[in-house]
Amino acid sequence: MVIIMLGAPGSGKGTLAQKIQNNFMLPHISTGDILREEINSNSNLGKKFKEIIKTGNLISDDLVFEIVKKRISKKDCMNGYILDGYPRNIKQAIMLEAMAKVDVVINIEVSDKTILERLPNRMYCEKCNKIYNKLLYKKPICECGGKLIVRQDDKLEVIKQRLEVYRKETQPLLEFYKDKLIKVNGQTSPDVIYNFVEKELKKRE
Ligand code: AP5
Ligand code: MG
Repeated sequence: MVIIMLGAPGSGKGTLAQKIQNNFMLPHISTGDILREEINSNSNLGKKFKEIIKTGNLISDDLVFEIVKKRISKKDCMNGYILDGYPRNIKQAIMLEAMAKVDVVINIEVSDKTILERLPNRMYCEKCNKIYNKLLYKKPICECGGKLIVRQDDKLEVIKQRLEVYRKETQPLLEFYKDKLIKVNGQTSPDVIYNFVEKELKKRE
C-alpha cells in the first residue's frame, strides 16, 4: 500500500506516520527528514537546502523528485511505503504518478492556533528522527539515546511563511486526491487519531 500524508506544518503527519510505520511495517519516507539529514552531513548540497528551508520555502521539484525516486526504488519499499511531505504541489503529484500508484491519502486537519502552539515546542531525535513535544516530554535525550534537537524552521516568522506556502502550493492537492482521501480530525490525541486511521486503512487493505 502506498500512503500519502497531507496536512499543514505541525498537523502531526510525522507523528502519525511513525505509528503507521511500526504497525503496518511500511517504511516512513519523510522528505523533510531526508533533507535535514543532508544538512546535518554538512555537504555542499546540504548547505543549499539549509538556506532554503530556513526561509520556509520549498526545494526545487526536480531535486526532491530525484531524492524520492532513489528512496522508493529500495528493496524495503517493494510492498509499499508512507510518503510524508511529498508531494507538496500539483507538479510533484503529477511527477509522482509516473513512478508510483498512490492508494490512500490521509489529510490531517488542525487549526492554525493549534499549529502555533505545537511547533515552537517540537523536538526531534537527531539519530532516529522520533518526534517529541517539550510540553509532554521533559528529557533532553530520545528513548534510543540520541540527542533531541529543535528545528531551524520552527521559529514563528518561518512557521507563518510555511503556512502560506502550504495554502498556496499544497492545499490544492486535496482536490487532486479527492477520491483517495481519508479526512482526520488532528485536534485529538495521537492514539485516538491512530486508532481511527488504522480502521480506515484496514478497510482498504
Ligand atoms: P517537513 O519536514 O515536511 O515539514 P512540514 O510539512 O512543515 O511539517 P512538519 O514536519 O513541521 O509537521 P508534521 O505535520 O510532521 O507534525 P509533527 O508530527 O512533527 O518540511 C520541512 C521543509 O523541507 C519544507 O518547508 C521545505 O523547505 C522542505 N521540503 C520538504 N519536503 C519537500 C518537498 N516535497 N518539496 C520541496 N521542499 C520540501 O508534529 C508537530 C508537533 O506536534 C510535535 O511536537 C508533536 O509531538 C506534536 N503533535 C503531533 N500530533 C499531535 C497531537 N495529535 N496532539 C498533540 N500534539 C501533537
Ligand atoms: Mg514532519
